Amino acid sequence: MIYINNEKTQIHLSCDNFSYVLGIQNGILLNLYYGPSLMTEGADPKAIELGYHIDAYPSGASFELTRLPFEIPSTGSGWYGESAIKATNAQGDDLTQLKFVEAQILSSMPELASLPHVHETEEEKAETLAITLKDELTGLKATLYYSILAGALIRHTVLTNEGAAPLTLTHMASASTPIVLPMSSHMDLIHLKGAWGRERQLVRTDAGQSIYRVESQRGASSHEENPFIALLDAGATEDQGKVYAMNLIYSGSFAAVSQVKENRIVHLSIGLNPETHRWQLLPGENFTAPQAVQVFSDQGLNGMSHIFHHLYREHLGKSQWIHKERPVLLNNWEATYFNFTADKILHLADEAKGLGVELLVLDDGWFGHRNNDRSSLGDWYVNKDKLPEGLAPLVNQVVGKGLQFGLWFEPEMISPDSDLYRAHADWCLHVDGRARTEGRHQLMLDLSRREVQDYIIGFMKEILSSCPISYVKWDYNRNMTEAFSCMLPKENKFETQHRYMLGLYRVLEEVTSSFPEVLFESCSGGGGRFDAGMLYYMPQTWTSDDSDAAERMKIQYGTSLVYPSSAMGAHISAVPNHQTGRVTPMKSRGEVALGGNFGLELDPGILSPEDKEMAKAMVQKVKEVRHLTANGVFDRLISPFDSNFCAWQFSSEAEVLLFYGRTLSIPNYIPRRVYLRSLDPAGIYEDENGTRYTGAVLMNAGLPMQFEQRDFDTKTMLLKKVQ
Ligand code: GLA
Repeated sequence: MIYINNEKTQIHLSCDNFSYVLGIQNGILLNLYYGPSLMTEGADPKAIELGYHIDAYPSGASFELTRLPFEIPSTGSGWYGESAIKATNAQGDDLTQLKFVEAQILSSMPELASLPHVHETEEEKAETLAITLKDELTGLKATLYYSILAGALIRHTVLTNEGAAPLTLTHMASASTPIVLPMSSHMDLIHLKGAWGRERQLVRTDAGQSIYRVESQRGASSHEENPFIALLDAGATEDQGKVYAMNLIYSGSFAAVSQVKENRIVHLSIGLNPETHRWQLLPGENFTAPQAVQVFSDQGLNGMSHIFHHLYREHLGKSQWIHKERPVLLNNWEATYFNFTADKILHLADEAKGLGVELLVLDDGWFGHRNNDRSSLGDWYVNKDKLPEGLAPLVNQVVGKGLQFGLWFEPEMISPDSDLYRAHADWCLHVDGRARTEGRHQLMLDLSRREVQDYIIGFMKEILSSCPISYVKWDYNRNMTEAFSCMLPKENKFETQHRYMLGLYRVLEEVTSSFPEVLFESCSGGGGRFDAGMLYYMPQTWTSDDSDAAERMKIQYGTSLVYPSSAMGAHISAVPNHQTGRVTPMKSRGEVALGGNFGLELDPGILSPEDKEMAKAMVQKVKEVRHLTANGVFDRLISPFDSNFCAWQFSSEAEVLLFYGRTLSIPNYIPRRVYLRSLDPAGIYEDENGTRYTGAVLMNAGLPMQFEQRDFDTKTMLLKKVQ
């Protein structure tokens, strides 16, 4: 329900899950309330009265505005903090005083033409509000869009220059919200910090009295942070407590900021990073900032994740694959690295087929003269030393064995040792007179340039049309440097990072929509671009280059805060693990990998007969449960960040799959219990041995976690609802 109360100059946005109340005082847009729904059953939602009044100029003082719950704060006129929207004007100052003009309810949710976004469906419609603010002196207009969709608040901002002189946007937040801290307690912040090989580790910290910044300046959403921040009650757990979360649907540099001001208001915002993004707006031009998703839950972190998972499964992207069962794949990367021949790949295909695998993926090294990572990115024609017959004959032979075929690309990159670089040395991001900084011996193509975008679209279409390729792994293995396009005039240089993302999104739209039957998986040195922007075009992402079972429990647990398991690639790899050197049982590697899009990343030929049998059994198991792991409700039960244990579950009306694991074995272990969630208390659930439990027993009395006396042991249990 969205209700504009003109009399009281208030705007109410409410659904079952939350209410969000805005007020206008002296033209300033204030946030009067954000929290649990104020709509009570049967009551007239239009009659909601707040028991307080916030004056924009308390006691006539117009100076100390820092105390106000500004929806869109901007420095220079009494607000002392991070700005949400700010522009430098022709006079050289950056005072930005946005005053309310109008509020309108729209009949449909706007689609963002060149940016990834969530959309409404036939089954679930949105309600949308547009609020217009304007700075009369400079002519900067801000249109703030708010949509209530599937229990979430979806926001984006369009900035328009209605003045006569150019403006430079320096702050373009997609969402900004003040949240009042409770008197009796303090609040915590959660974000997902990491690095290559250990992405999205859950960090929880006191929201404190100051500023906290979660950001990437890397030109990618990054391994280091994820475009996600949440403020939560200090006592909130997975199951209870209030959580206020923000996630940005964007794959480039971002900033999520939490700042506590003197009146115990926390201002939370998310959007493009002001450190890396500026935008010149000429008279008459528009700028659309990326979409942000705001989720409120008063049922703890699981409650928050349920909303994100549902929204991203049902409302993000158009891929035919979103609701389809994903094929079990075998990827040759850790099996061979660059060292393979056509025969070796065909041999792997036979081994894979024997295990029940459905898709064989040929990774890096099949093109140019690439025998290590020092050359050939950009030369997307077959490496005749390795595949003398060419690509199509190999693909056809693999397909002839009853497997699908998948191929690796890293389209946004260029190796200095490549024919492409010899022909177009200026196509990479660089600044004249400065060294070109290499990462993994490679440079980045300047995707802000149309001819570069068209080049990528051209070779991708050509290769994907040339033979029956069913799957693409789209990799990105370094971050931006010298990100100032040589094609842009100096006033626009700072636009390069965002223009790159717009170029990338154009390429992805064009390529993925031209091959709707192909399954695309994005990758960035593992999970360096695991974000809703990439998931809009490609329904799954390679979660991490680290497939060690113990590490993966944490990585997948952290990732699940925001992203559904249907988005996570999860593979069994060989032991000792190539990233950690750790040896974990095959069964544990497999059971952890059941929690995502399952695959293998090894040469089955090196497995012991027992491990091979176990791998085969795991592949069989995936086929039985993947409908549930892809579409069921996911609940986190025990956090590996807080204990030696980890547990999660997938459930539907008909069944539940429980997973639990223990990192290190302990002497004299007295079984701890795991308590299931989201079940029908009166329902009867039967396990694989025929033992029956009520939902109430599973949720309240729990089940003892039994382990073998060894490190890194895991268990899974499938329970069917029989009554
Ligand atoms: C990245 C990916 C790996 C693999 C290599 C190939 O690191 O994350 O899975 O594809 O590139 O170079």
